[in-house]
Amino acid sequence: MNTKPGSPVNDVCALTAQQLRRYKEDGFVVLRGVFQQDEVDRAAKAAIRCVTGDHVTTAGDPYPSRATLYVLERHHVEEPEFGHFSSHPIVLDSVQTLLGCDAVMSTAVTYVKTPGAAGTGGDYQGSHPTAHQDYKTYHHAGSSVNWLFSIIPLVDLDERSGPLYVSPGSHKLTQATTQGCVRRVQRCGGDEIGPLVDTQLRRGDLLLMHMWTWHHGGANGSDRDRLGIYNKYRAINAPPACGPHLFTDRAHQVICYQGRSLLPNHSDIPITTARVLLQHREKFLMIRSDRRKEQQWHLPGGEPQEHDLTRRYDRCNLIDSVEIHVQDQLNLEIPWMTYLADFEHDGELCRVYAHPLEEDPPVQAAKGIQEGWFTVEEIGAMKSAGKLTGGYEPQAINLWLDDSYLRGIGQSKTRATGAT
Ligand SMILES: [Fe+2]
Repeated sequence: MNTKPGSPVNDVCALTAQQLRRYKEDGFVVLRGVFQQDEVDRAAKAAIRCVTGDHVTTAGDPYPSRATLYVLERHHVEEPEFGHFSSHPIVLDSVQTLLGCDAVMSTAVTYVKTPGAAGTGGDYQGSHPTAHQDYKTYHHAGSSVNWLFSIIPLVDLDERSGPLYVSPGSHKLTQATTQGCVRRVQRCGGDEIGPLVDTQLRRGDLLLMHMWTWHHGGANGSDRDRLGIYNKYRAINAPPACGPHLFTDRAHQVICYQGRSLLPNHSDIPITTARVLLQHREKFLMIRSDRRKEQQWHLPGGEPQEHDLTRRYDRCNLIDSVEIHVQDQLNLEIPWMTYLADFEHDGELCRVYAHPLEEDPPVQAAKGIQEGWFTVEEIGAMKSAGKLTGGYEPQAINLWLDDSYLRGIGQSKTRATGAT
């Protein structure tokens, strides 16, 4: 890791002492008139160019259908008009100061909302009809335990186009505690927050918002598109608990700040396997199939389910797939897990999570599955002897045991919304 939590990043700070105080007190700060009109205009034109391309996400008809939300969330960040903002020194200096360490991007999103488009939805747990906060155990960016929002409106967000409302101080109502090797977040309910106020965001402004601040984006009642860049940055040592969004290899190369890529999670090859490292005391669980006459051991898990790969949003969260495999293979229910890494193996990617088991885990291997508990040293020896399917397992264990990472709870959306 480049930095420990809270370590100073550099001597440059784009924020004044008063702005730092405002962020700490209110959970957000607006930097007025940071960007020139021509750079905002270029991004607005690029947004319309991209939204008519192949990589736009929408539940509606092709642009420009009325009352429709279009989302650019992956390839567009490679375009120079957006890369300009993603790695802008004022943004990065501010973000890194507020996060307390080096930052990377977890989400690069640009929204285009045509006239008549609805405002943002309410809390996913149903505690508020319109406002929400974006810390979510099932969302790839939201499940990090140290991140913030960088919002750059490309049009004025006024009464007609739909203001961005926030509840000042609402971030203080959510709490986090360290439990073992993870941070558990106790989200407050929407019924506990104070009034929402209009941030009066105008094109050229920059809004930085704490991950726990409650907010609401208004409906577009104007006759023009409502455009904005909504990027999320996380501390370099606070990975998304349910697994990161993967950017393209090209985006990884071009989006850099001070000589390092801001997109460490990238790949042009698909994730074809998802597994979990299960720890009990000093040992880790490996399995192999007698039925397939497997000679090598591997972590529990397998191919991702179709529904985890094809969801419109949160496609990278493969926890539900892993849960299903572990239930089948070991008759074991895992209430949460946390992302470790994506390992390349034979030209494919394997996404690996971890979960610590309590005393005497009720593991019951299915017929034809052989289970074994091994120490770090034993697994290292198994790798040397060619007895591991992936070969990355010792590396996964090292990541899991590295306490310089801040890890959170990752869940499937079904479980996070209480549907199970
Ligand atoms: Fe939001």
